[in-house]
Amino acid sequence: MSEFLPKAYFEGKIVDFKDANISIATHALHYGTAAFGGMRATVDPKTKQVLLFRLDDHCKRLSSSAKLLGYSIKADFIKKKILEFVKANPCKDNYYIRPLVYVSDLGIAPRLHNVKYDFLIYGLPMGDYLDKGGIKVCFSSWVRGEDRSLPLRGKIAGTYVTSALSKTEAHERGFDEAILLNSAGKIAEASAMNLFIVRGNKLITPSVNQDILEGITRDSVIKMARDFNYEIIERPVDKSELLIADEAFLSGTAAQVTPIKKVEGYNLPENNPITQKLSEEFSKIFTDPKSKYLSWITKL
Ligand SMILES: Cc1ncc(COP(=O)(O)O)c(C=O)c1O
Repeated sequence: MSEFLPKAYFEGKIVDFKDANISIATHALHYGTAAFGGMRATVDPKTKQVLLFRLDDHCKRLSSSAKLLGYSIKADFIKKKILEFVKANPCKDNYYIRPLVYVSDLGIAPRLHNVKYDFLIYGLPMGDYLDKGGIKVCFSSWVRGEDRSLPLRGKIAGTYVTSALSKTEAHERGFDEAILLNSAGKIAEASAMNLFIVRGNKLITPSVNQDILEGITRDSVIKMARDFNYEIIERPVDKSELLIADEAFLSGTAAQVTPIKKVEGYNLPENNPITQKLSEEFSKIFTDPKSKYLSWITKL
C-alpha cells in the first residue's frame, strides 16, 4: 500500500488523494482551528471485511469536538461519510482513518465567528504504533494544558503542539513516550494515550477531570476490566505511584494496550498479568468471532 489510501473525502466528494489540497492561507493551518478523529480499520484476513471499532463513539466525539470550535456537524453525517470513504478504498491491510473538521476560511484573524468550515477524511496504513512488548516512558517537562484554557475534551488540533513537544523530548532522551503531568502536578496522560496503573488487584487511572482526553480505548478497557471483576479507581494519580506500580500501560487507538516496562530510571516488574489479560481480550475483539464485545464492531 502506498503512503496514503488512494481516495479521500474532500469538499463534499470522494476524490483522488493527490487532488485533495488546501490553500496555504487556510485558517486551520495558522491557528490550529481544526478538530480531528482517528480510528483503526482492521481488515479481517479471512473474510476481508473491514472492522471499525466503536464507530458511533468516534463520530460522536468528533461531532462534539467540532461543537467546541463552534461548528455543527452531526455524528450521523460523519458516520455516513466514513462508510463511503471505506467503500471507496478497498484495502488488504489495516489502516487508520483520519476525519478532520477544519476552519477552511482564508482570512487572517484568530476567531471562530464569521468563518467557513469544511470536513475531510483520508487514510493511511497503520501497524503497531508502539512496541507491544513494552515501552520506556519519561516524565515530560511540558505540562498538559488546562481545560479552562483549551477545550481538552475534544481532539482540537492546536492542543497537540504540547503532545508533539513532549513526544520529541522523550525521543531525544531515548524514551518511547512521554507522560505529561497536569497543572496540579498529577499524572494526566501520554502524548496521545491514556494511562493505567495496576496496584494489587486494582486498576487506577486519572479521572476525566484530570485534563485528560476521554479516550474511547480507555472507556473500553474500563468496561473489560469491570467484566473481569477488577476494581477500577478513577482519581488523581501521583507521579510516585507510577514508579512503584505493579504494572502500568497506555491505552489508545494507535497504542491499543501497550505495557510500560520502564519509567525514567525505574524498571517496572517484568510480570504484568493484568495488562496481558486486558491486551489479549482487546485483540480478541478483532480476531475472535465469539468475543463478547462484538457489538463494538461495525463490519463492512
Ligand atoms: C491526547 C490523547 N489522549 C488519549 C488518546 C486516546 O484516545 P482513544 O482511545 O480514543 O484513541 C488520544 C488518541 O486519540 C489522544 O490524542
